[in-house]
Amino acid sequence: MTTTRKWLLKSRPNGPLKDSDFDLVSGPLPEVGDGQFLVKLTHFSFDPTQRGWLGGDTYLPAVPIGGVVRAGGIGEVVASRHPGFAVGEMVQGTFGWQEHALSEGMTETGPVTKLRPGITPEQALGVFGVTGLTAWFGLTEIGKPNAGDTVLVSGAAGATGSVVVQVAKALGCTVIGIAGGAEKCRWVVDTAGADACIDYRAGGVARAIREHAPKGVNVVFENVGGEILDAALANLALNARVVLCGGISSYNDTADNRTPGLNNYMNLTVMRGRMEGFIVLDFMRRYGEGVAALAGLMREGKLQTAEDVAHGFENCPATLRRLFEGKNFGKQLLKV
Ligand SMILES: NC(=O)c1ccc[n+]([C@@H]2O[C@H](COP(=O)([O-])OP(=O)(O)OC[C@H]3O[C@@H](n4cnc5c(N)ncnc54)[C@H](OP(=O)(O)O)[C@@H]3O)[C@@H](O)[C@H]2O)c1
Repeated sequence: MTTTRKWLLKSRPNGPLKDSDFDLVSGPLPEVGDGQFLVKLTHFSFDPTQRGWLGGDTYLPAVPIGGVVRAGGIGEVVASRHPGFAVGEMVQGTFGWQEHALSEGMTETGPVTKLRPGITPEQALGVFGVTGLTAWFGLTEIGKPNAGDTVLVSGAAGATGSVVVQVAKALGCTVIGIAGGAEKCRWVVDTAGADACIDYRAGGVARAIREHAPKGVNVVFENVGGEILDAALANLALNARVVLCGGISSYNDTADNRTPGLNNYMNLTVMRGRMEGFIVLDFMRRYGEGVAALAGLMREGKLQTAEDVAHGFENCPATLRRLFEGKNFGKQLLKV
């Protein structure tokens, strides 16, 4: 192969992502210089935060117009003039939506790492990647649940939420999930092991939380924001901790179509609660500890994972949209 393809950002998206926001371009395979290696991507991770990266500056600079769409991925080293990376090794990093990535060992979110033996690419991008680590550190370090606490998890059938549900159960908590649709809710209870799951599409979320947690919730793990967060805030127990992991319901907001603000935030005052955000990259130095803890739960049979694998490099934009349409079941990946 002498040519390779990449997806570039064509225009800054406004509202839901469209095919016309992206350009699929083809060009020659890059030459590998001294200190560089070439990765042939095999798997891509799809994460709601990519919508933020495309829209403007966040905790990382915005993807520039004409730049490769930022994304995590895994691939095989196919050429190398770098002493630390050999041909045939499987590596992981934020390589972006491109079939081949030229690297010197560093990406925008940290160093390129080698795949650990015994871990599949799906696990490395999911439960042992950013997703699982977000669940682990967000719950244990920000939510700080105690055994016997009631933990409420939105986006509970998603990649992050489903891990949070199971870690909270393993820590001895009562867990209430919130997810879209009866089928996802069934999975959250029957497979992930939550005590209950509320289908937010059926409405009445605040009332349903009150029914399942009449004494209030001690920890809220928030992935969705907007009305769902407001319903959670109406049901806090004394000294509740609200973990602001994400707010996917507002990621497609535009200047004239914004998710309504919160009505119940003063309940944090009444209940002496705390609401705190975090970015998983803050815990990068402790990733090994998180992976070990999650692997332990998996060995004990306390952690099930679901992966939703799309195929075909040309389907990257459509696959990213699935997250915002609630079409993914568990971790959304794409295999080239
Ligand atoms: N703070 C951090 O460092 C960090 C790191 C990773 C992820 N996150 C955040 O964690 C959250 C989950 O990410 P993930 O990668 O695990 O994705 P995910 O939960 O696997 O997928 C997204 C899910 O969000 C739900 N959703 C989409 N639009 C919605 C809406 N308008 N209202 C309610 N639910 C909606 C859908 O589930 P339903 O079918 O149930 O609606 C969809 O399946 C996101 O908010 C993300 O930004 C934060």
